[in-house]
Amino acid sequence: MPRRIIIDCDPGIDDALALLYAARSPESQLDGVTVVAGNTTLPQAVSNALRVLDLAEGRHVPVYAGASEPLERRLQPSARIHGEDGLGDCGWPESSRESQTERAAQFLNHHGQKFGHETTLICLGPLTNIAQAIRSDPESMSRYQRLVIMGGAYRVGGNASPVAEHNFWTDPEAAQAVLEWRGTSIRLVGLDIVRTVLLTPNHRELLRQMNTKLTHWICSSTRYFLNAHWQVDRVLGCYLADPLAVAAALRPEWFDVQTYPASVAVDGLNRGQLLLDEYAQSPRQVPAGIEWCVEVNRREFMEDFLACLGPAQWTSKQVRRCLIGCSE
Ligand code: BDR
Ligand code: CA
Repeated sequence: MPRRIIIDCDPGIDDALALLYAARSPESQLDGVTVVAGNTTLPQAVSNALRVLDLAEGRHVPVYAGASEPLERRLQPSARIHGEDGLGDCGWPESSRESQTERAAQFLNHHGQKFGHETTLICLGPLTNIAQAIRSDPESMSRYQRLVIMGGAYRVGGNASPVAEHNFWTDPEAAQAVLEWRGTSIRLVGLDIVRTVLLTPNHRELLRQMNTKLTHWICSSTRYFLNAHWQVDRVLGCYLADPLAVAAALRPEWFDVQTYPASVAVDGLNRGQLLLDEYAQSPRQVPAGIEWCVEVNRREFMEDFLACLGPAQWTSKQVRRCLIGCSE
C-alpha cells in the first residue's frame, strides 16, 4: 500500500528531483506540497513547485504557499548553487496552475488533524512552516506518524558555514523549535549521509538516454547544479540531499539509524549547528532521541530513484543492467 506523504520544500534543484521522485514512486501517495522560502524566494519557489509537478505526469497535487522569511532573520537565497530561478536557469516550462488559497501552516494543521496518523511529513527546506504549524496547533502536528527532515551536519563540515548545513543555517530558530518540540518521532537525513550519495555524470547520461521530455528537463536543470558542486566541492556529480530524505520516508528499511538527543545552536558562529549528544554530555537537558541516519543502501536507492524518473515501464532491475561497470 502506498504511504501517504506531505512534502514541505523550497525548490531548489534537489527539491525538484525529490518532488518528481515522490510524485512518481508507486510507494507514495503525495497528498500535498507546502512551500517555504529558502533556496529561492517564496513566489519563485511556489512557481517552481507547480512547474515541476506539472511534468511529473501524475494527478494534480495541491501546492500551498507558506513563509516568505525565516522566523527571525532575513532570507539569503542561494543562487550560486541553484541558479537565479532556483531550477538552474534552464527555462523550465511555466505552469498554468495556481497555488491554493489556504496557507501552508493551516493546511499542515488540517491535514494532521484528519490524516496525520497515516501520514509522513517530509521536510526539505528551512523548518519555518513546520515551526509555525507547531506553534499554531501542536496537537494536530503531533498526530503525524513521523517527520523526516533533511537537515544538519554532525561529523562533517557544513555547507552554509564551517559547522552548519544550509536548511538549519537559514532558519536556526525554527530548526531548534522543531527538534526540541518532539511531539512525534523525527528522522534526520543530514549532510554526513548525503555526502555519500552522488548523481554522477554516468547517471545523468542514463537519464539523457531514457529520452523523455522529463528526463531532458532534469538533465538541463542538473547541469547548473553539477557545475556548482564542482566549483564548491570539487566532486564530479551532485549530492541528492532531498531525494534521499524522500527515500528515508518511503523505504526506511534501506537506512541504518542511531538515536541521539539533539538540538540546534542559534547564536554567533555556531548558527544552525546540529548538536547530537552522542555521549549524553550536554550541560542542559536536551530532549530525548531523534533518529540520525548513518548508513543507506546506496545501490537500492539510486536504482529506484532513476527508475522512478525514467519512462513508466522502467524498473530498478533495468537501471541496474544499464549501470553495469559503473561504480555505485
Ligand atoms: C539542503 O539545502 C538546500 O540547498 C538543498 O535543497 C537541501 O535541502 C542541503 O543542505
Ligand atoms: Ca531543499
